[in-house]
Amino acid sequence: MRIGIGNDHAAVDMKNEIVNYLQEKGYEVVNYGTNTYESCHYPEYGKKVGEAVATGEVDLGILICGTGVGISLAANKVKGVRAVVCSEPYSAKLSRQHNNTNVLAFGARVIGIEMAKMIIDEWLNAEFLGGRHQTRVDMIMAIEDERE
Ligand code: RB5
Repeated sequence: MRIGIGNDHAAVDMKNEIVNYLQEKGYEVVNYGTNTYESCHYPEYGKKVGEAVATGEVDLGILICGTGVGISLAANKVKGVRAVVCSEPYSAKLSRQHNNTNVLAFGARVIGIEMAKMIIDEWLNAEFLGGRHQTRVDMIMAIEDERE
């Protein structure tokens, strides 16, 4: 599985640790984030990873900024993206099972590295349950086509 990862200046260290963590687990990781502490604009990276997921360049995306909020908002503007911000593993797991999220975001200034790893594990190991959840996800995605 290919995972695209993106981050701003607030999350360079955490991004590097997460890349190593994922690679050790056998995932192929594509780095779309910044690698320097120089102040930058998180929407650029949310968009890059969102587009990589939407086009199938990668299977799933992980985004990290200070809070995870801004970068996930940007990703969610890309058609086909369902990004979730999580600070704990339960919501991460349910976001896959019920909402079929394809991008996971969290904040390097909000959670520690061990919590981030737990969140990632729950998210990657969960599977979409379909059925009534598919109907609801379809309803979410239909909103994208209401206004061009
Ligand atoms: C950068 O200072 C900060 O605004 C950004 O990392 C993020 O938290 C935005 O949502």
